[in-house]
Amino acid sequence: MNDLASMKSKASARVDEARLWRRHMEMAKLGATPKGGVRRMALDANDNKARALLVEWARARGFSAALDPIGNLFIRRAGTDSAAAPVMSGSHTDTQPSGGKFDGIYGVLAALEAMEAIEDAGIATRRPIEAAVWTCEEGGARFPTGTMGSSVFTGARKLDDMLADRDDAGATVATALEDTRAALPGIAMRPMGFPVAAFIETHIEQGPILEREGKTIGVVTGIQGARRFRIEVEGEDAHAGTMPMKLRRDALKAAVSMIHALEAVFDDPADVVRFTIGRLVVKPDATAVVPGHAMFTIDFRHPDPAVLKHRGDQVAGVCAAHTRGCKVTVNEYSKTKPILFSGAVPEAIERAAGRLGLSHMPIHSGAGHDAMHLFEVAPTGMIFVPCWRGISHNETEDAKSSDLAAGTRVLAEVLVDLANA
Ligand code: GLV
Ligand code: MN
Ligand code: MN
Repeated sequence: MNDLASMKSKASARVDEARLWRRHMEMAKLGATPKGGVRRMALDANDNKARALLVEWARARGFSAALDPIGNLFIRRAGTDSAAAPVMSGSHTDTQPSGGKFDGIYGVLAALEAMEAIEDAGIATRRPIEAAVWTCEEGGARFPTGTMGSSVFTGARKLDDMLADRDDAGATVATALEDTRAALPGIAMRPMGFPVAAFIETHIEQGPILEREGKTIGVVTGIQGARRFRIEVEGEDAHAGTMPMKLRRDALKAAVSMIHALEAVFDDPADVVRFTIGRLVVKPDATAVVPGHAMFTIDFRHPDPAVLKHRGDQVAGVCAAHTRGCKVTVNEYSKTKPILFSGAVPEAIERAAGRLGLSHMPIHSGAGHDAMHLFEVAPTGMIFVPCWRGISHNETEDAKSSDLAAGTRVLAEVLVDLANA
């Protein structure tokens, strides 16, 4: 074995499965739900506690921590060349309102575990290695915009626009970040955006393929694109007992007609289109009142840009054709294009999985990830591990400790590889 090969194998051998699992369970207490899931909304008290806990673990190992203006948190293990751009790995600590114990946090804990394994193996790397926590990855949970922190970091979205993003209670990201900074006393501040030598995100698959195929590692080939819309339907509140049916402007019934027509637009016998209406808010939400207001969201995803354009561009017209006397406003508030990973990072992941004797396969990501933004500024790839029945964005989300550790071993080898490249 040459020096680099032996370093890599030493690093992966020091991944501590028990430590990794224990930390997942500790994190799962922050926002724990009665059904065994996690509700840790972006920048809320539990998200801030999760960050504080990470910083505590990092400092205990002599790693430094810093926060940028959108609240992205970076934990750094120094390299021998302090001027070199870091190799980075990470994901997110926030969850959906009824999320699980692994989505996001696994990628963060795997990055920290890999850094500790490299430290425990006594390996110096030329480049620094950093673990990143990207702010508000989960869109439409607390704040509307997902992959917020990573998109601001890479310049895909503007810092000021995102600081002004509001949750349903009217709080802005800017005010929420005051609590985050207060929860991390003494944290260093870092300017927005800096060169990254390579980015690797480790994540549970959130789909059923690896489990079905009996493979431990997914070498991610790309991420499908997504378009998200918010549709507001304005009718008129009226008395349920007195207003004749023909004179009503019922916003909920108009929304239902629109949704019915949209179902046909997004129908796909091949089952590649992903079309979801995850929110429907009716006001005033009272039994004896004809609803004067309805809001619903559309989350539409597909790997082909032409399909994203052709079907997505029909949303406004279809809604306008089914207003039933109401006024409709269609706002497309988020759009990400499909991407394909190739080159150094996926190749390093595949090589490492092979060296470690782990079964692996190429796999495309149906879910969005912070990696899709990092891809625009650095060589990027992702490592997937199986999760139970492919269930995610669900409190019952589950994964095997041995699979989480296997993904982290691959990550440790890839980090050493790329930090010395
Ligand atoms: C991220 O969680 C997504 O919705 O794809
Ligand atoms: Mn995630
Ligand atoms: Mn998620």
